[in-house]
Amino acid sequence: MDTLTVKKCLFPVAGLGTRFLPVTKEIAKEMLPLVNRPIISYGVEEALNSGCSDLIMITGRAKRSIENYFDRSFELEHLLKTRGKDELYEKMVAISNMAEILYVRQREPLGLGHAVLCGEPFCRDGYFGVILPDDVFISDKEEATPPVMAQLIDVHNRLGGSVIALEHVAREDVSRYGIIRSEVLSDGIHRILDMVEKPSIEEAPSRYAIMGRYVLSPSIFEILTKQGAGAGGEIQLTDAIKTLAKQEPVWGVVYRGRRFDCGTQKGWLAANVQLALEDPELRGVVLDIVKKVGDTSSGQKG
Ligand code: UTP
Repeated sequence: MDTLTVKKCLFPVAGLGTRFLPVTKEIAKEMLPLVNRPIISYGVEEALNSGCSDLIMITGRAKRSIENYFDRSFELEHLLKTRGKDELYEKMVAISNMAEILYVRQREPLGLGHAVLCGEPFCRDGYFGVILPDDVFISDKEEATPPVMAQLIDVHNRLGGSVIALEHVAREDVSRYGIIRSEVLSDGIHRILDMVEKPSIEEAPSRYAIMGRYVLSPSIFEILTKQGAGAGGEIQLTDAIKTLAKQEPVWGVVYRGRRFDCGTQKGWLAANVQLALEDPELRGVVLDIVKKVGDTSSGQKG
């Protein structure tokens, strides 16, 4: 088995997205715009820029739009071409040429662990990446920080074993995440010993939280197959990684870069405002709106 490359990357996108209802009744949350393109496109770009060439999406109901987004749209392309909108035409073709993507349907949303298990037929021959696209990571361009998936693959290439992304979170946020107990190997790299899902701050073994990026050993599939439903009646990936860590090395790496949690309405909105403020063409628009709203509300107070 070739353990020194990670070419395959799974995108579990079959969740119901209840925190975005009613929008997600019909629209995939991964297709919501983050400034000028869908959330999912950031994850796909990250995988490609990390050297992954085989992308597999685990999709579900109401997710057809993801497939359509990365496919050719001959009618639209023809229309743009005949109307002389060449730049837009090129842009549309480039999206469908971005990557070869395979789609697998998770028939029932039985949990993230189950979604990963749906990828087994394509990933059982070696280590593979997993990207949860709700967590959007933006690398620091000036410091040329590699994408987060590339940071994980680098640790895998150096140490072998599975790798998960970690963030040192604020005390008040500990109860929102899976938290690790670990041995520190070196600066920013931990050997995972155990994990606790959403602990209180008193119970939390650390403040290092698991984020939505993983490099996993194919041994995870056997564990997931044997594992029953956990919290919420779902097959939990965290439970399986916990078991994996007792059998094989699982490393945690404190990622470098910025994370935007686009899995909640508040987080998604904040990400849009923040990234629009960083876009030279949009910054003025946002600041103008904020100023106008500020002026109106201070006028109302007076
Ligand atoms: P979440 O826990 O964020 O669930 O899933 P969700 O359904 O996307 O959103 P909420 O909590 O209901 O608002 C984490 C990741 O696992 C995928 C999701 O698509 C998301 O990328 N997932 C979850 C599946 O693919 N299948 C599942 O059965 C559950």
